[in-house]
Amino acid sequence: MRILSGLQPSGRLHIGNYFGMMDAALRLQHEGDAYYFIADYHSLTSIQDGKLLRSHVRDLAIDFLACGLDPEKCVFFRQSDVPEHTELAWILSTVTPMGLLERCHSYKDKVARGLVASHGLFAYPVLMAADILIYDSDVVPVGKDQKQHVEVTRDLAIKMNETFGEGLLKVPQPRIREETAVIPGLDGQKMSKSYDNTLQLFEEPADLKKKIMKKLVTDSTALELPKPIEGSTILPLYKLVASEADYNAMIEDHLRGGIGYGDFKKRLLESITTYFAPMRERRAEILAKPGYVERVLAEGAEKARAVARQTLTRVRSAVGLGD
Ligand code: ADP
Ligand code: TRP
Repeated sequence: MRILSGLQPSGRLHIGNYFGMMDAALRLQHEGDAYYFIADYHSLTSIQDGKLLRSHVRDLAIDFLACGLDPEKCVFFRQSDVPEHTELAWILSTVTPMGLLERCHSYKDKVARGLVASHGLFAYPVLMAADILIYDSDVVPVGKDQKQHVEVTRDLAIKMNETFGEGLLKVPQPRIREETAVIPGLDGQKMSKSYDNTLQLFEEPADLKKKIMKKLVTDSTALELPKPIEGSTILPLYKLVASEADYNAMIEDHLRGGIGYGDFKKRLLESITTYFAPMRERRAEILAKPGYVERVLAEGAEKARAVARQTLTRVRSAVGLGD
């Protein structure tokens, strides 16, 4: 089974990214042949500052490795080191109906949030399809908001196969963990860097504390009264990082009353800190090894490129490019 996923280097990793996508992807690396990459071509649709993009790529690579990506087990690379993706994207774009892209929510949402309505942003799902199809991927672990893009990918693979020959491209499946489909942020809506409501994975401890104690929104139920479970901002986050027993205890404490939100927030802070402590340590170790990240990415690019070239050769031959 070939597994593939990518993350855009468009800011520091947050808990939504981790539980929405990365955690599942990291578990899957032990179950098959995994390809994970940093989608820097995609990030050009939102970051147009070369220095900043390069520093985000490096940070994300370090974070991925700190979170447990094992470069011995999977192929880890930077998208732009495999320019074959863009050639396949062009070929796919010639069978992509405009209507298919016009229906994509992500484009409309991003424009509504102020991103420039560029051709790149509009064509983004076609590049994503190329990323997936060029590795003959079977399974694509992503967050719920990317499901539609994997459906576009499936449509394009089917269309290519109908047009140029059955079996040309493998039709992939999305893998979405429903229980962690949408992680809420500090204000209760979806955690996202564009809403400025994130808890970053490797946040400075003092900032993490400040965000949880001061910015995490709660209602004004009096201390002695029972607290509502429904709509809680604390409980869904706590569930991700606490043991089952601690989570159940917090539910009971909500129902009983007599405990304030400040206390629940302290428990949340402690559990988040403990949960991510080993990754924080690993991050420091990686930072102490000069050249390590660059070496991993260079080796990954070489392996990825060998596979991507084979698929592209097959596709070029089927569509009539080259000899
Ligand atoms: P952001 O919304 O902060 O810009 P991205 O769109 O870059 O995050 O998301 C990267 C990956 O993380 C995607 O697979 C996405 O589905 C997942 N993801 C992001 N935010 C969340 C969230 N709040 N809950 C679940 N998954 C998320
Ligand atoms: N669009 C994805 C996101 O914003 C990133 C991505 C690019 C991706 N190419 C991909 C994810 C291929 C999975 C497979 O999160």
